[in-house]
Amino acid sequence: MRVVKTIAEVRQIRWDDPALTWGLVPTMGALHEGHLTLVRQALMENDRVGVSIFVNPIQFNRRDDLEKYPRPIERDLDMLRTAGVHLVWTPDETEMYPASFQTYVAVENVTQVLEGASRPGHFKGVATVVSKLFNVFQPTRAYFGQKDAQQVAVIRQMVRDLAFNLEIIACPTLRESDGLAMSSRNVRLNPAERTAATVLYRALTAAKNEWEAGQREADHLRATMQQAIEAEPLAKIDYVSVADPISLQELNGPVEKALLSMAVFMGEVRLIDNVIIGVA
Ligand code: PAF
Repeated sequence: MRVVKTIAEVRQIRWDDPALTWGLVPTMGALHEGHLTLVRQALMENDRVGVSIFVNPIQFNRRDDLEKYPRPIERDLDMLRTAGVHLVWTPDETEMYPASFQTYVAVENVTQVLEGASRPGHFKGVATVVSKLFNVFQPTRAYFGQKDAQQVAVIRQMVRDLAFNLEIIACPTLRESDGLAMSSRNVRLNPAERTAATVLYRALTAAKNEWEAGQREADHLRATMQQAIEAEPLAKIDYVSVADPISLQELNGPVEKALLSMAVFMGEVRLIDNVIIGVA
């Protein structure tokens, strides 16, 4: 496995044999089994797999969140080496954002709601860094977790709008045995918060079960999720949503397909999760 820092090194390795297909798994490190699932799928579908590890400062709207973001780089590299990854790019901040940097990618409507409404500027940061990663790596396919459903929707929109020449693959959310979605932020939960955090998936599952039993009213599904979260004293709702899976606009009345999603604070840690209903 090659571990490199510069754009020039990535390009040289990527184009060493232009006939090979490359899968890219963009990450901010602090890898867990969820990332490894993306890596394994990428390894099955491509000749070579590259992983980027870069804690992207411009997608954080809270300084403490950026500062507290875990950075266990040696452990990450061991995991990727064991998994069989070919190339890891760990750029320094100056490689991604030199002092002269002044170009940003802003995707419009789909970024204005949900995470975008709660975290101003977040998706501008994501779209900008992902564009740069795509331009540098020029992967055949890029892999993202469905846990960040809005991120997937934003990146798909950007790829369509700007005609990036690659395929976006969204992989299902990986969960702990008690249902908690795997996330690099979970390590920041204290034991009581960790136990309480299972309420997100319980709330989503309660609404999904109701929909499967015939309940179609968006308001009712939202209320089910809200009540389930409010029953957990350690949880504080940021939002609960029943939205169109592509436009992410909030739905009213009867729904045949939807993205059920939420953001919930457990103490200082903000967790997100989602499930899709009605889409095969
Ligand atoms: O999902 C993430 O880890 C990040 O948002 C990404 C896609 C690596 C961009 O920094």
